[in-house]
Amino acid sequence: MKTINVKINGVDYQESVPPRMLLVDFIREHLGLTGTHVGCTFEGVCGACTIHLDGEAVKSCLMLAVQADGHEITTVEGLAGERGKLSPLQQAFNDEHGLQCGYCTPGILMNMTEFLAQNPNPTDEEIRQGLVGNICRCTGYVHIVRAVKKAAQQMSS
Ligand code: FES
Ligand code: FES
Repeated sequence: MKTINVKINGVDYQESVPPRMLLVDFIREHLGLTGTHVGCTFEGVCGACTIHLDGEAVKSCLMLAVQADGHEITTVEGLAGERGKLSPLQQAFNDEHGLQCGYCTPGILMNMTEFLAQNPNPTDEEIRQGLVGNICRCTGYVHIVRAVKKAAQQMSS
């Protein structure tokens, strides 16, 4: 076992983990933060496991928990503001029906939150390019693109 120190959604954790435990398993199974999903067989294909590591969107199934030692993580549980107020992107997904089953949604929210921070005024094409690492089997992406666009407009107004 290895001891790691991580800050997740503003909370400091010191935990013992097996050296080969995946970061996504640490987040879901060890800490019980099950908003981060697993949609493929840990191949880095679906994007459902996307989190922020030091502010950067990463796929947590492609990392070991020990690699997060000393770093700061945000999961989808940490996106909302005080008293559970939805972030502008979460609110836009709600308003524009950017989800159906919702399985892909946490990963897309984490990826697109970072995307909008880098690219506050994206075109539809840029949003679609930004979504290439996230698979959604339900929506056809049209409402997801609309939601991201609406969030961008609201955040810049
Ligand atoms: Fe990580 Fe699919 S579970 S990319
Ligand atoms: Fe069902 Fe995206 S809403 S997979």
